[in-house]
Amino acid sequence: GTKIFKVNDSNAILECSNILREGGVVAFPTETVYGLGANALDSKAVKRIFKAKGRPADNPLIVHIADLKQLNDLVTKIPKEVKLLSQKFWPGPLTLVLKKEDVVPEITTGGLDTVAIRLPGHDVALNLLQKSQLPIAAPSANLSGRPSPTTAQHVIADLAGRIEAVIDGGPTGIGVESTVISLVEEPPTLLRPGGITYEELKDLLGEVDIDSAVEAEIEDENRLALSPGMKYKHYSPDAEVLVIEGQRTKIANEIMTLTDQYLEEGLNVGVMATKENSDSYTKSQVKVMGNRSNLMEISSNIFRLLREFDEMEVDIILVEGLSTIGLGLAIMNRLRKAAGYQIINV
Ligand code: TXA
Ligand code: MG
Repeated sequence: GTKIFKVNDSNAILECSNILREGGVVAFPTETVYGLGANALDSKAVKRIFKAKGRPADNPLIVHIADLKQLNDLVTKIPKEVKLLSQKFWPGPLTLVLKKEDVVPEITTGGLDTVAIRLPGHDVALNLLQKSQLPIAAPSANLSGRPSPTTAQHVIADLAGRIEAVIDGGPTGIGVESTVISLVEEPPTLLRPGGITYEELKDLLGEVDIDSAVEAEIEDENRLALSPGMKYKHYSPDAEVLVIEGQRTKIANEIMTLTDQYLEEGLNVGVMATKENSDSYTKSQVKVMGNRSNLMEISSNIFRLLREFDEMEVDIILVEGLSTIGLGLAIMNRLRKAAGYQIINV
């Protein structure tokens, strides 16, 4: 079975670092979402992550470190942007894609000659990294294709019996995954929006490209994504998801109209609403993502709400769209993916 450690259990870090050193897999909280960790340099251990998640082998993992010095062993070249970015954003929700050293096995990088590296900003994650003295490969600790886990209960719902242990550190703060930026591309290229915003990166680096997958409104099967993970259907609950984008009051009107239509068809409707609009939706099940003026509140809630609606067995989830400024870009990227790019513009 899977051992569940409370974060205040004084043995948690020691026992879990031992499991990691012996080639096992352990889920742990970070400031973004829960990760499923294994020794990044041990092919057999990393293989167990892919197996537990049911993750496609060509989708590379993020390698977590506790100290900037570990970079030297993992990458062949440290471009100038690394110093700027790490000083400003590490520890934190930023992942850097760099050319990998030979010690990093191909299974960890999905066969790529680059490796994604992050120094997380969460005590449990940092303690585990320090105690184990290992670089830890850790994707989000969900079954592949499910919404990312923001609580230990989400991890257990997906992975109980498939992993050695989970450390329960309570709900994560940011709630969407880290920003991934490639420093192998010229100019640096945003591959996945996350906790560090595009605007913050641009302020620091000057020029930053955005990979076309980030803002995609239509899934293009043929487009070769720089970030292999972006091509997979992600974050999907079992229910059908529709995102309604546009001006706030028009969104509310459209959702009310759609709700009437779906109710007529005998469907069970859920609405993921912003606080500002939530009183409009009187006929459906409503869950509030948060205030439009507090994007961090919204990002911390979206994956949990998608899971909760699934448990209520709604047939369709209507989600309010937001602006893509700041953290809004990461939120909308996840919501559009969850909807399989079914978007209504009003
Ligand atoms: O916040 C996070 O980043 C969480 C926590 C646990 O740290 N981890 C996470 O990992 O979200 P995962 O595996 O769910 O997402 C990793 C993303 C994928 O989109 C993957 O394609 C991309 O990073 N990635 C990893 N290595 C890459 C590489 N060498 N080149 C381009 N993209 C890469
Ligand atoms: Mg993931």
